Amino acid sequence: MAVKIGFIGAGGNANWHMDMLKDVPDAQIVAIADLALDKAKASAEKHGATAYASHKTMLAEQDLDCCYISIPPHQHGEPEIDVIHKGLPFFVEKPLALTNALLDDILERVEKRGIGTCVGYQIRYMDVMDKAKEMLAGTFVNSVNAHYVCGAIGGWYTRMALSGGQITEQATHLIDLMRYILGDIEWVAAAKRQGATVSADTLDATALGKGSVSSEAAGLQLHDYNIWDATTLLMGFESGVPATFTCSCQVPYMWDVILDIFAMDFRLKIDFGKMEILKKVDGELKSEMIQADTSPKIDATFINAVKTGDWSKVRSSYADAAKSLRVSLAATQAALSGEIVRL
Ligand SMILES: NC(=O)c1ccc[n+]([C@@H]2O[C@H](COP(=O)([O-])OP(=O)(O)OC[C@H]3O[C@@H](n4cnc5c(N)ncnc54)[C@H](O)[C@@H]3O)[C@@H](O)[C@H]2O)c1
Repeated sequence: MAVKIGFIGAGGNANWHMDMLKDVPDAQIVAIADLALDKAKASAEKHGATAYASHKTMLAEQDLDCCYISIPPHQHGEPEIDVIHKGLPFFVEKPLALTNALLDDILERVEKRGIGTCVGYQIRYMDVMDKAKEMLAGTFVNSVNAHYVCGAIGGWYTRMALSGGQITEQATHLIDLMRYILGDIEWVAAAKRQGATVSADTLDATALGKGSVSSEAAGLQLHDYNIWDATTLLMGFESGVPATFTCSCQVPYMWDVILDIFAMDFRLKIDFGKMEILKKVDGELKSEMIQADTSPKIDATFINAVKTGDWSKVRSSYADAAKSLRVSLAATQAALSGEIVRL
């Protein structure tokens, strides 16, 4: 049975999901809405769908089974509310919102209507994350140290009010991964850095090359860049584990993401493609490198859940992803106030 899909947003990330859906049995993209009708039309032509300039018209005219919502962070709200009103399950990209008030509002509606949801934290689906969870179960973890450093992306990303800044927009993936592997976070303190001189040279050329986040608009808002250059978090997990996490989008010469977990008997160094296990064997420190299976699984998981009504394989529901966003929002508040924020 075909699963009829409508897209809200036809930007870089949405097009990536559309391409992934070509390999998902029974997935059928029937409608694509974007405020920029030319973008909706270009994607619709490629996928044999109908283009719309408004998600409202799309929802009114089409008989859909589910929706993808992939829009800039500041645009969340009405699309979700309208999709929920229609009673449709939806896939939505992180970050879910930029305020706790909107997050609470959408979450309440999702729960009241019993809507199936899947949030784009696709790193959770890699096999090495299962291995890490398995190794850490019942193990005493001493501490955690993580970083997410890269260059800045242009367009809406560069404005705090539009993207929420790097910790909310981008590094949220690592916060979510920490929660997935190590459990919930209880409190957060944070410090921020601002003052870097930003130019087209400091943009992340690799991100732009991938056609993601506003490639065509890159540089447009550079003169108004106001997101933080770096943020460092000190966090306490509910388990008692302390963690530090530094993210910076003013490291234009590299993209480096590491989650370093120090347990009593071993250390796990995880990035988005592999995991290194370090431990003493016969008195000598040995390293084992495990390459991750990075083949995308999230789209097939979502479509299968829509088809079967079994949402148990979805690793990040709206309610769970909301907890990851709350950590970023708390960190932003902590950096502004200089106070510890409890979650
Ligand atoms: N999970 C991941 O790894 C991952 C990767 C890249 C981007 N993303 C997320 O995907 C989202 C979109 O990012 P992108 O790179 O595609 O941005 P983008 O700027 O390339 O595309 C966003 C598109 O949404 C459209 N749009 C804006 N408001 C709309 C609305 N109300 N209705 C319909 N269309 C609307 C814009 O016209 C634009 O075409 C962001 O939240 C980003 O964080 C996630």
